[in-house]
Amino acid sequence: MNNFGGNSEGLATHDWAGEAGTRWLGQLDRFESMIEPIGDALLAQAAYASGEKVVDIGCGGGWTTRRIAAAVGNTGLALGLDLSPDLVVTASERARRASVANIRFVQDDAATAIPEEAPFDRLFSRFGTMFFPEPYVAFANLRRMLRAGGRLDIAVWAPIADNPWQRNVMATIRRHIDLPTPQPREPGPFALSEQDYVTDLLQSAGFSDIAFDTWIGDQRVGGPDSDPESATRFVLDGMQIGDLVRASEEDTRAAVHRSLVELFERNSDADGVHMAAKAWLVSARA
Ligand SMILES: C[S@@+](CC[C@H](N)C(=O)[O-])C[C@H]1O[C@@H](n2cnc3c(N)ncnc32)[C@H](O)[C@@H]1O
Repeated sequence: MNNFGGNSEGLATHDWAGEAGTRWLGQLDRFESMIEPIGDALLAQAAYASGEKVVDIGCGGGWTTRRIAAAVGNTGLALGLDLSPDLVVTASERARRASVANIRFVQDDAATAIPEEAPFDRLFSRFGTMFFPEPYVAFANLRRMLRAGGRLDIAVWAPIADNPWQRNVMATIRRHIDLPTPQPREPGPFALSEQDYVTDLLQSAGFSDIAFDTWIGDQRVGGPDSDPESATRFVLDGMQIGDLVRASEEDTRAAVHRSLVELFERNSDADGVHMAAKAWLVSARA
């Protein structure tokens, strides 16, 4: 599923500067509302002070960047960096409409680019650091964006085994479609799910004081107002796995649809569809 997003299940390579970015943009409000509690938790952990200069890696539509801008105030700066030109345009437009002055968005590859505003006091990312094809190179570059003593706060998904909202959807689709076997650590939502690996990546890049906090909660699949039918449409239209389903025979497509609705019916109540989820909130010192 993997537009959280890419190819943790061995699907075609995600293309954030192209299709994957467009897909995220097409469901922006739903995606952002689903991961809002994790954004809240990571922002609380980061506890930004007035005047700090912060880079938001893989900022998407800029929801967290706007929150950071509010936290650091007019003497600080929030810079959103993202690979997707469409998302950067949307993020800039949303900030303009909200009259946020101390914010900027830049389209570039966080694995290699150093924004001209560097060095930053702080680096933030909600689910934007799991897609690097060469993670050791990329994390060394993230370290270079920070001043000595600057701090990193990133959210990454814990293993898929601890994320039934993804595991069960994939298992349901697998009953009808032969999906490729996921490769450990391949770019995608679960690339940074192993704490030892993340620690090694950060230490190799020159970070110290590495700590993991755990976020456990529910994912409201398709957003807080979803029902089994709309959650199914969200998976099939908004996530990369939908491409494989669309490429299958009509009978198979109908069977997948039915099975997903049944899965979400078993996981919904008056509050909508919700399933268990787990993420790591990682911090480190440059
Ligand atoms: C799962 S989305 C999260 C978006 C946003 N952080 C949020 O929480 O709403 C991942 C984001 O990371 C961006 N991204 C992926 N690889 C990137 C890279 N190498 N450099 C910059 N951005 C990247 C994508 O374009 C996408 O916007």
